[in-house]
Amino acid sequence: MLEEFEKIGKEAIAELKQIMDLARLEEFRIKYLGRKGLVTDILSQIGKCPAEQRPQAGQLANKIKKEVSEAFERLKATLLAAKREQSQEFVDVTLPGVVPQIGKKHIIAQTINELLEIFGRMGFAVAYGPEVEDEWHNFVALNIGPEHPARDPLDNFYIDDNILLRTQTSTIQIRVMEKTKPPIRVVAPGRVYRPDTVDATHMFMFHQLEALVVDEDVSMVDMKTTIDQFIRVFFGADTKWRFRPSFFPFTEPSAEVDLLWTDRTGKESWIEMGGCGMVDPNVFAQVGIDSERYTGWAFGFGIERLAMRKYGITDIRLFFENDLRFLGQF
Ligand code: DAH
Repeated sequence: MLEEFEKIGKEAIAELKQIMDLARLEEFRIKYLGRKGLVTDILSQIGKCPAEQRPQAGQLANKIKKEVSEAFERLKATLLAAKREQSQEFVDVTLPGVVPQIGKKHIIAQTINELLEIFGRMGFAVAYGPEVEDEWHNFVALNIGPEHPARDPLDNFYIDDNILLRTQTSTIQIRVMEKTKPPIRVVAPGRVYRPDTVDATHMFMFHQLEALVVDEDVSMVDMKTTIDQFIRVFFGADTKWRFRPSFFPFTEPSAEVDLLWTDRTGKESWIEMGGCGMVDPNVFAQVGIDSERYTGWAFGFGIERLAMRKYGITDIRLFFENDLRFLGQF
């Protein structure tokens, strides 16, 4: 009887050594360790032994059961681990990860931030104004009379009789001067709207940066120095620019600021960044600032123009098409 037990135990261990997969391991379990399995059966045979052999038989049966069970569990753990390693769930922590696409600021927003930072370092505060404006802020207070061609309904997005989308950030000059006593030193970025036919250099909506300085003894030299310093910082120290005499109803004298542009073929041309000038006394009168005591200067630059010149962009429409291949470059 005892030899019979040992034989079953040895066979079980030997068979286990041949097993390479979980399906066969399950067959093994049923054959030896299941409810009617050969090893399980040994225990029930103990009772059939002669009484004096029983303690010994019991010990042996338990030992065999323990050995076979333990060997079975070890092999099962090994095969399960191997299976996990082969399956797709397996994570190779050494592989490079999937880089998530991260959004970034639009090039216009980036440019505005840079402008505000440069002027901030020169002591300018920041002001904002509404995009929906009344005629008084957009025209009247800026000395643009009722007969001025800029008032033509065809050149403006009118919302109501007296209400329109602002055509220039110069409106913010008025809003600042209404609320603030000199000295004033502000820049004001924002969107402006004009019903222009869209092409490579025109859009019905674009951005301007307005500046306004009002104080005692402010001169055109201050204006020129400030613009020159800005251009050097924003575009580089060797950038060529010029004042070109011009006219605006709200400044006297007035000038336009042109930057020298060299295209890819080396051809040079002047491109207009915007206007500037000494604040007209009529404007001061509208907002109740004493023009005998105070003088001021202002400018309004096109922000798309600035970005186009800085980054070599030749079509304004690119800013607004939201093509990630374009936007991703900045
Ligand atoms: N508002 C003018 C425009 O949109 C630009 C401009 C000219 C702004 C002269 C100014 C200025 O502040 O002084 O064309």
